[in-house]
Amino acid sequence: MQGIFDLIEHRRQKFTQHPFIRFLRDDRVPAERRLAYAPFASHFVLSFGEFNRDFLPEREGDDPTSEMINRHAQEDQTHFAWFLHDLEVLGFDAQCRFSDALRFLWSDEGRAARDLGHYIISVTRAAPSQLKLVIIEALEAQGNVWLTATAHAASAHPEREKLIYFSHHHLERETGHAIGSEVESIHATVLAEELRPQARELVHGIFDRTEAFCDELLRRTRSAQQPDAQPFLKL
Ligand SMILES: [Fe+2]
Repeated sequence: MQGIFDLIEHRRQKFTQHPFIRFLRDDRVPAERRLAYAPFASHFVLSFGEFNRDFLPEREGDDPTSEMINRHAQEDQTHFAWFLHDLEVLGFDAQCRFSDALRFLWSDEGRAARDLGHYIISVTRAAPSQLKLVIIEALEAQGNVWLTATAHAASAHPEREKLIYFSHHHLERETGHAIGSEVESIHATVLAEELRPQARELVHGIFDRTEAFCDELLRRTRSAQQPDAQPFLKL
């Protein structure tokens, strides 16, 4: 899989310079403002939990790739609960009308968050285990960049001791690779020749949509500070 790992690393490096990632690392901006992206990530974070629970797992078998996938899916399907917990800590669990919550989650402004979630679910449904491993590795590489920058912002937040999803606590449970597997055994997995073009397409598909999602997060986080923003999104 080395060629695919080189591509993931190339896209990961580029992603570290994304304006949203730089915004999260910008200590001139108060931490509360930086973490105010939380509500706008909701659809994706919850879809990601569902992806790990219902779409990623392989049927039980003794194939080592399936074991790596299932171990990872088992752990990562639980993390959305930390996100729900942190929404309250960050002050975003105010009451709002149910119809407003639905409009918020399915608004045009949140299209990129949904596109990333829908994309990973649709490509995973049809993927053989080797490609599922590529999907995990691409997602973990982008997730590690995003969560590292988020934990940096969280370390300056007044409620930092209470945060779980947004803090180093979450990062400590993730390695940037399939959880519970050694990097060497992931790298040693052989990717069949005929799957390589599709694997490259998946890596680009995930990173392209991640970047669009982060463009959206930055745009929405900034516009939530404007006077006409929905009151339950303001700090
Ligand atoms: Fe996670």
